Amino acid sequence: MKKPPKRRRTPLFEVRHSPIHGYGVFAARRIRKGTTVIEYLGERVSHAQADARYEDKDPNDNHTFLFTVDAKTVIDAGVNGNEARYINHGCAPNCESTTLRKRIFIEAIRTIQPGEELSYDYQIQRDLDDAPDVDEIYACRCGAQNCRGSMLEAPKKGGSAKRAGRRDGVRSQRRGR
Ligand SMILES: C[S@@+](CC[C@H](N)C(=O)[O-])C[C@H]1O[C@@H](n2cnc3c(N)ncnc32)[C@H](O)[C@@H]1O
Ligand SMILES: [Zn+2]
Repeated sequence: MKKPPKRRRTPLFEVRHSPIHGYGVFAARRIRKGTTVIEYLGERVSHAQADARYEDKDPNDNHTFLFTVDAKTVIDAGVNGNEARYINHGCAPNCESTTLRKRIFIEAIRTIQPGEELSYDYQIQRDLDDAPDVDEIYACRCGAQNCRGSMLEAPKKGGSAKRAGRRDGVRSQRRGR
């Protein structure tokens, strides 16, 4: 007997122009809290290779598709990347990035309604030799009421940034970071 056609579900999200920046990723249907939305894919390279790829870029251009996995590995979603690379930063995000066995996943931290733009907090690491205007270069346009104005992590209390180990997260294109 002929099998009934499989019901195709609407995709979870779609990529389209975003009021925040360039393209963004939007919920196409309700996404429940705790859902793994997508894996952040791309070419896995060393930090030195990632630096080399962005070497000729204007230092005032903050655009990056790099995501630090650990001290050894960076994912460059500019090469073989998927839609995860279009998820913008938000200061009141509805998603977060998680690391599982050196793979990066984007997970919903609350229920997201259809049409809402997906975002996670990039918390890009600060460094000792950041330019004084680094927060302007990495200015945030997420539009949240509590927007901290920057895609960088909040400044550490009582002092400047330290040259810390590389933790997972969106990585700036600045050399040596
Ligand atoms: C991984 S891409 C996200 C997709 C990006 N909108 C695009 O079309 O390529 C990250 C870059 O998007 C921009 N971006 C993401 N979130 C932003 C925000 N909240 N405010 C300003 N620019 C943002 C920055 O240039 C950032 O380096
Ligand atoms: Zn913001």
